[in-house]
This record gives sequence, C-alpha cells and structure tokens, in this order.
Amino acid sequence: MARLVVISNRVAVPKARGVPGAQGGLAGALNAALRDHGGVWFGWSGQETDEFTGSVNYVRSAEGVTTATIDLEHQDVQEYYYGYANSTLWPLFHYRIDLTQYEREFGKGYERVNRRFAESVLPLIDPGDMVWVHDYHLLPLGNQLRENGVTNKLGFFLHTPWPPTNLFVSLPYHDRLVRTMLAYDLLGFQNNTWLESFLHYCGKELGADVDHASGRITLDGKVTTARAYPIGIDYDHFVQKGDTGEARQAQQRLISSCRRRTAMIGVDRLDYSKGLPERLDGIARFFDRHPDRVRDLVFIQIAPPSRENLESYQDIRETLEQKTGQINGARSEVDLVPVRYVNKGQSQEQLFGFYRASKIGLVTPLRDGMNLVAKEYVAAQDPDDPGVLILSQFAGAAQQLSDALLVNPHSADDIAHNIRLALDMPLEERKERHGKLLKSVREENVQRWTANFVDDLSQAG
Ligand code: G6P
Repeated sequence: MARLVVISNRVAVPKARGVPGAQGGLAGALNAALRDHGGVWFGWSGQETDEFTGSVNYVRSAEGVTTATIDLEHQDVQEYYYGYANSTLWPLFHYRIDLTQYEREFGKGYERVNRRFAESVLPLIDPGDMVWVHDYHLLPLGNQLRENGVTNKLGFFLHTPWPPTNLFVSLPYHDRLVRTMLAYDLLGFQNNTWLESFLHYCGKELGADVDHASGRITLDGKVTTARAYPIGIDYDHFVQKGDTGEARQAQQRLISSCRRRTAMIGVDRLDYSKGLPERLDGIARFFDRHPDRVRDLVFIQIAPPSRENLESYQDIRETLEQKTGQINGARSEVDLVPVRYVNKGQSQEQLFGFYRASKIGLVTPLRDGMNLVAKEYVAAQDPDDPGVLILSQFAGAAQQLSDALLVNPHSADDIAHNIRLALDMPLEERKERHGKLLKSVREENVQRWTANFVDDLSQAG
C-alpha cells in the first residue's frame, strides 16, 4: 500500500509544543486516515517566528502518526492565514461576498506561504507516495509541487463549499487560482452541489472541456478528475468515547441540571457561517409563539471561539452575547434560564455525553461544506429513545441526512416550527428517522471516505 503524505494548514499534534492543534472534523478524519496508511502529516505548527527558516519539527503521536510542522513568520500568518485564507476565501466560499476582503497583499502572502509549504515538504515526499492536500489554505500547493519537479500522484480535497460561478468571479485573478488547481490529478468535494459549481466554473470561465458524468476536466491537454466524496465521522472511535466515565458523567450532569426540561443542543465553532444569531432568533420565535412552553426547553449552545483576531469573528461573538442576553433577560425566572451559552471547547467524551442527554440537536449553518456535528449527534443517540436532529438544508450533510427535520436556517418561523415538531415527535417516528440516519452515519464513515478518495487517487493521472 502506498504511503500517504497529507498536507493541511493545521495538523493535530502540535499540543506537544504548547499550542492547540487542529480542531473539528478535519483532525479526526486525517488522523484516522494516517493510522491506517502510514506516512506523514505536514502543516503549520501554529507558531510564529521572527524569520522563516523552513526547519521541520517532527512529533510522533501515541497513535503512531508522524507529524512534521514548520513555523511561519508573523507577516505570513497575517497575510496568508488571517488574510487570504480566512478573510478572502473563507467568506467567499460560504457565499458571504459582503464579508470578503480583496487585498493584494493577502494574495501575495498566500502564494508565498504555499511556496514555502512546497519547498519544506519536498524532502519528505518519496517516490511512490501519494500526496493528499487539504482545504482552501492550500489550493495552489499542487502546482507549486509540480514546479518543484514532483511527479507523484497529487490529490486535493476541499472541506468547504465551492460557491456558484457568479459569486466566485468576484475574486480578482480567480482564473489564475483555479488553473493552478488543475495541477492535481484528483479534486474532491463534499457533495454534488459544490462539485457542480466547480465544473460549471471550469467550463464557463476557463473554456475547459468538462464531462459532468465522469468529472473529467481537460484543459491544454492535461486531465484532472473532480468528484464528490462526502466525509464521515470515525464512527467506532467516537462511539467508544461514549463508553467512558467522562461521557456518562457529562450526560448525567446535563440531565440533572435541566430538571426534567428537554435539552436542545448546538455545537459549533464560533463562526458567522454557522447561523448562530439566526438560530437564536428561531428559538426566541418559538418561545414567543408558545409562551406556555418556556418551561419545557433549555437550549445549550457550545461555541468555542475561533480566528479571534478578525473583526468579523469579534462581531459575531458580540452579537451572540447580546442575543443570548436579550432572550434570557426577557424570559428568565429565578429558577430558569432558557439559553446557556458556553464559550469554550469540550472533549469528545463530554460532547458525546451532552449529545446523548439532548433530545434535540440543532444544527443550522447558513452554509457548510459538510457538518460533522450533525453526524456525531446521530451517533451519540440511544437507539431506543433517540433525539431529533434539526438540520439546515444548506449544510452538505443534508444530502445524506435527509431523514432529519430539514430547515431553512434564515427563517425564524421555520426553525420555531421544527422545534415544536421535534418536541412533540412520537417515539415511533423518532426511532424510524434515527434508524435511517444512523445507517448513513455508520456506513458512510471516515474510513470509507478515505478509502474511496485514496483508491481513486491511486488510479488517477
Ligand atoms: C474548518 C476548516 C478547517 C479548519 C477548521 C478550524 O473546518 O475547513 O480547515 O482547520 O475550520 O479552523 P482554524 O482556522 O482554527 O484552523
């Protein structure tokens, strides 16, 4: 079996050096892939230095995954990570051109850091290795590697949405950027919507020859294949987390603190793409419509902060604090606070316990590549008395989890209506829906995702 060289902006192990590692689905997914295939995971350490040296630090985790990281200069972090990746591409890819910043310096920093990544990872790539690059931070990396003489199979997976062509063309030099992506042999997207947007762009804006059925894109004699590979969770690993004292304790703690009220939970990185203010508006609408039910429901929002140096993230945090305050101010009693807002991350074990204690999972991003919280929520339910998943129709996960209650996250009325449906749903219907959701979450797991992508990559090019 060919070794994998995985490259992403963040890697999961730099904890050893005192900084937080990768968060969220990407970390779990890639750790699982590397556990199975061997190889190395390369990325940014999360550290800043005065001057870029390119020296690589190695850490071998207890699970046997080797990570190799480089430090970046302050200017790199500003222009590449906070700049082009998270102030230009992230909002644009989530359809938020109102928040997208187009600064020349950001673009230059992005290209510089991608070059630095390519030059630093080069000695780690052996002949026969497959190289798998991840996410919007590193779109041009494949091309940089080719320019440095790499002839290995090169694959790329985008964890976010790909926006419609008429939004994407607002990016200066959009065509140059997408041309660099065609240096990869295989391009993966989370679902057919994002894939189709990408194929449409290649045909319309680059004049490439695009075969929509096979995903083959031909431009200037070079062929690249683009396909959808919906990412899943490491189901077995996550369910094992549930079988721990920490998970059971978290479950009990939440249940007893709710004192017979139904717990409804949301777990999201604090990001404007997650639809958190809109979610709170939906909950307020539910309470307004059903004042007699204020005592039936407690909403717990876990929202660890993210990318805090950026104004758009500071703004969303302020908005949430205000809205939580307003909802609670208007409806709290001495023994009742309808919304609990927790601003810090929780362990996987605790999350499992909280999900299991919550009879409603509320996952309402305005736009999301996939959303693995929805899948974790399903995995953590008791099959004999499962909770109800309310899921945004604009999350990539909605295409697989169509047995959830699907909502329009922009509509407070729709969210309120679905909260009522979830609260009143009979056990039989809950079990039936959950059975179907669980089948998808268990079968379409991260192992299958990795195997599908890596199989196709080994045959691509
Ligand atoms: C999303 C992105 C990942 C990213 C994660 C956390 O899931 O797709 O690439 O690592 O958010 O964001 P951060 O900026 O903290 O790495």
